[in-house]
Amino acid sequence: MSSEVPAQYRRVLSGMRPTGNLHLGHYHGVLKNWLELQQEYKCYFFVADWHALTTHYDNPSIIADSTLNMVIDWLAAGVDHGLADLFIQSSIPEHAELHLLLSMMTPLGWLERVPSYKDQQERLKEKDLATYGFLGYPLLQSADILMYKAGLVPVGADQVAHVELTREVARRFNHLYGGEPDFEEKAEIAIKKMGKKNAKMFNKLRNAYQENGDQEALAVARALLEAQQNITVGDKERLFGYLEGSGRVILPEPKALLTKASKMPGLDGQKMSKSYGNTIALRDKVEDVEKKLRTMPTDPARVRLTDVGDPAKCPVWQFHEVYSNEEVCEWVQNGCKTACIGCLDCKAPVIEAVLRELKPMQERAAEYTQQPDLVRSIINEGTEKARDVAKETLDEVKEAMSMKLL
Ligand code: TRP
Ligand code: SF4
Repeated sequence: MSSEVPAQYRRVLSGMRPTGNLHLGHYHGVLKNWLELQQEYKCYFFVADWHALTTHYDNPSIIADSTLNMVIDWLAAGVDHGLADLFIQSSIPEHAELHLLLSMMTPLGWLERVPSYKDQQERLKEKDLATYGFLGYPLLQSADILMYKAGLVPVGADQVAHVELTREVARRFNHLYGGEPDFEEKAEIAIKKMGKKNAKMFNKLRNAYQENGDQEALAVARALLEAQQNITVGDKERLFGYLEGSGRVILPEPKALLTKASKMPGLDGQKMSKSYGNTIALRDKVEDVEKKLRTMPTDPARVRLTDVGDPAKCPVWQFHEVYSNEEVCEWVQNGCKTACIGCLDCKAPVIEAVLRELKPMQERAAEYTQQPDLVRSIINEGTEKARDVAKETLDEVKEAMSMKLL
């Protein structure tokens, strides 16, 4: 995968809202994906507490209560703070400043048209989400992403529109503020700084892209630029823009990395989600996990042991699809359709597999819970590193917007 992603896209950013305990849906849908990404890319994973506030402003204590536990669950699941920087959004106030600056140039219509704005208002009728903060929250997300010049943003289908908005915002920003009166001249000087051979190659590739739309030439030219050690960040931005026929690329456009829809069902067969009350939390006690699974509904046709059933109509089967091997799956199919096994027999391997999955996570979580100072220092370290990047970007943004005073 990594070889197809241009170097400037090698940063991954993702955030999660702290609004309660993490459950198996988060583990299978998000965290397992993070574990893979951290091996390949520079990753920034953050607790999106300001995002949580846009929907939980009337009950913010749950945000503070969930934050530390959420990071503990990330670590317990295998997120490696040596590979990824972990931080809390509100500890980096630069996110707020970038959000504010971007808000000046973002047309209202762009935000009103983001589908989640109307959808969530419909879905969460009991909350008043006709707020300034809620309308602006996709732009806050854009600020999160652009702050780290992230190329890849792993998101579920519901968040793709937010990455799309981010791309439009970046394009508009570069268009408005990436221009310079002597842009072409500066770009030509920068090309020369690459040395004769590289300069010649760059010009050839640029022509091939601009005259014939040669995408491969574009990719090669980008890689060439990325590899240059002797030119400044500013010159690189100029040349990325010059290459594509635009002004300086100060904020690069990110790509959404669509996460496969999680197959993890809830206890009732719907998607696992706290709002449906059908979750198994990563920290649920063994007895509670057993009880939840033992009492979860099965194919309603199986009233008595002798009634045949159909796994296709049973949420337990969906758990087998996640956890069981072929042999067990076959045993379930035959046993259910011929009424040879009871539903409790059928659930036994699922209960065992879920407990086996949770056990090491819970052990690690218990260790971290006993050392809150260690967790805090991990977060502080991640925050410091992330903040350095954030300051650098904000500095460039302010400079471009003529807001770097004195
Ligand atoms: N909005 C995301 C959610 O509700 C969380 C989030 C905030 C995020 N900022 C982000 C995700 C940046 C990816 C990138 O789940
Ligand atoms: Fe569901 Fe298994 Fe019972 Fe069939 S035997 S109804 S698949 S729990």
